[in-house]
Amino acid sequence: MPETEIIQLDNPGNPTPGDREKLRAAGARIREGALAAFPTETVYGLGGDALNPESSRRIYAAKGRPSDNPLIVHVCSLEAIDRIADTSDPNFAKLADAFWPGPMTLILPKKEIVPRETTGGLETVAVRMPSDPVAALLIEYAGGYIAAPSANLSGRPSPTDAEHVIQDLGGRVELIIDGGENPIGLESTIVDLTVPDPVILRPGYITDKMLAEALGRPVETDRAILDPDSGKAPKAPGMKYRHYAPKGELTIVEGEESAVLAYLREAVQKAHGSGRKVGLIVTAEHAQALKADVLRCIGSRNREDEIAHNLYRILREFDDEQVEVIYSEGFADTGLGQAIMNRLLKAAGHRVVRV
Ligand code: TXA
Ligand code: MG
Repeated sequence: MPETEIIQLDNPGNPTPGDREKLRAAGARIREGALAAFPTETVYGLGGDALNPESSRRIYAAKGRPSDNPLIVHVCSLEAIDRIADTSDPNFAKLADAFWPGPMTLILPKKEIVPRETTGGLETVAVRMPSDPVAALLIEYAGGYIAAPSANLSGRPSPTDAEHVIQDLGGRVELIIDGGENPIGLESTIVDLTVPDPVILRPGYITDKMLAEALGRPVETDRAILDPDSGKAPKAPGMKYRHYAPKGELTIVEGEESAVLAYLREAVQKAHGSGRKVGLIVTAEHAQALKADVLRCIGSRNREDEIAHNLYRILREFDDEQVEVIYSEGFADTGLGQAIMNRLLKAAGHRVVRV
């Protein structure tokens, strides 16, 4: 078991010369085969050298992740991508120009140099150029290619703060770089470019509308992730696992406002009647009107960025508080709401009550 060193930075938003020195040293460690958790604009990543099969094997082991679930290769320049993937699809340039660096991952045909260990045995590779300045510097210093899944233990919510990473990976990786809270808080949008018509494999901050505008045509979302009963396997192998799940049983309650409030009040009563600790995830508009053992306000209903930013932290807090039953309000299923509802539905194992 490695001893974990926590690296504190003076100014993660705009790294100082001292911060750069620390990141240079961390990059050198990655090149030697070490694992380092690091901040990005979405969630924390668990990074290793993407071109070193042994590093990828160690990432799977540290996360407790099935090895058929491929890793995303993080780069810090467009030029670096030609070495690892085929970028000749004209849609590549359109999306890369519009959204990189940023919270988007593209699936491309892989080149020989990328080990099968990194791509979970696939002939395609997921590539992302993060905008976070700490991530960009670390990638450069590590030699240009960092394989990184989210830095949580398999099955837990993705970490959105260094504290979450320390909980999950302390004693399992060599380095954890503390960059504070991640601004977005949900994982990147994944778009498959290995098929004739681009498909969204995982919704995220970059919405279907934004992608359609950049491509000049509508973009579909993988049917299997919208409808768990479609009988199809999702094309992103990771989307089939029951991710993001809190330990308590989570139910989403949807419907007309007053009916939802009445249902939530009754659900809290019932849980208490059976002696169970109950938690609620509510919007700011309803936080005063409800009570529970653990009540968490996720943000204002018309601020989807706040809701996205707070979701994973709140799911972790319910675990810390050992809440046994959880109810959440539902959210609009458009724009960033698509990504929010995708993660919330997975956390709830698709348990939804309509009132
Ligand atoms: O925002 C993010 O994307 C974060 C940060 C750290 O960059 N990373 C992240 O990685 O969410 P991870 O490993 O937790 O999720 C990667 C997803 C998985 O669902 C995986 O199956 C899918 O990407 N994926 C990776 N390579 C793929 C490929 N070649 N084809 C299809 N899906 C792929
Ligand atoms: Mg993940």
